[in-house]
Amino acid sequence: MVPDPDRWPSSTGGKGFTEVAKKVHDMGLKFGIHVMRGISTQAVNANTPILDITTGQAYEESGRKWSAQDIGIKERTCSWMQHGFMSVDTTLGAGKAFLKSLHTQYAEWGVDLATSHLNNYSISDQALESRGFILCRTIDELNLDHLNSVFVAVGFPKRDPQKIRVALENTDSLLWVEYTKTSKPVAFARATGDGVFNAIIWDVVVDPSFQGIGLGKAVMERLIHQLLLKGICNIALYSEPRVLGFYRPLGFVADPDGIRGMVYSTRKQKKMK
Ligand SMILES: CC(C)(COP(=O)(O)OP(=O)(O)OC[C@H]1O[C@@H](n2cnc3c(N)ncnc32)[C@H](O)[C@@H]1OP(=O)(O)O)[C@@H](O)C(=O)NCCC(=O)NCCS
Repeated sequence: MVPDPDRWPSSTGGKGFTEVAKKVHDMGLKFGIHVMRGISTQAVNANTPILDITTGQAYEESGRKWSAQDIGIKERTCSWMQHGFMSVDTTLGAGKAFLKSLHTQYAEWGVDLATSHLNNYSISDQALESRGFILCRTIDELNLDHLNSVFVAVGFPKRDPQKIRVALENTDSLLWVEYTKTSKPVAFARATGDGVFNAIIWDVVVDPSFQGIGLGKAVMERLIHQLLLKGICNIALYSEPRVLGFYRPLGFVADPDGIRGMVYSTRKQKKMK
């Protein structure tokens, strides 16, 4: 792994973060980095060899050389950066060799501390998959009639699928859960916004047959995480009184600092006419 020289000019010439670490140390501080867990898709696509730091050569075991495609788990991509990273099979000698080479490189640069990106979800993607649920983040495979049926089943008004499509195409972040046995959506949530400061969450639904098993929380935790990673701190939603207790443990508060939400009332306008 090498830093991008455009963003980190001091890394030019293969120096990595050496100069940055030196500067930080000169200030009397420790130098820590936060890295993505797993191996980059770029390395897996290029099938780069795994470095064995004890020999300085490609890692060899069972009479062959090992490379990135041997250790990257393509079915376990990073849930919010699916084209960026994937898990590493650390049960393999080559997987362990990869992590050793990576952390040796950080140490050689002068990094004192490396933390890796771990999600603290109440239920992991893997646990959901083992129960037959797949998390999806695009509308490519989403059947809008089936989604509409879920909306109707929870009491939302039935909407024109064409309008739903337009709404979803104009949505920044969305998440839905497919039940593999039926290939139908059973949970959904989405957020619209300006992409940097503000987001509003809409259409949080779980099919009534699948409520109470953690899907609503699973979807909301990931949606909030996705927004926070974009740097969006102002996340709002409208809650029906009966679901306030669902949103509160997820970090939502009503009337923060006395601020009240207001909605333009078309009903009131009609009365005034
Ligand atoms: C609200 C809704 C999305 C919750 O989804 P769900 O999958 O049933 O909820 P989960 O199983 O993930 O529950 C997560 C936690 O919230 C709690 N919870 C769920 N619904 C709740 C409610 N209405 N009031 C208080 N707590 C609730 C659960 O007990 C659980 O608590 P735990 O983490 O301590 O075990 C779902 O019930 C739903 O679709 N309701 C109809 C549509 C709706 O009202 N949407 C919100 C519009 S504002």
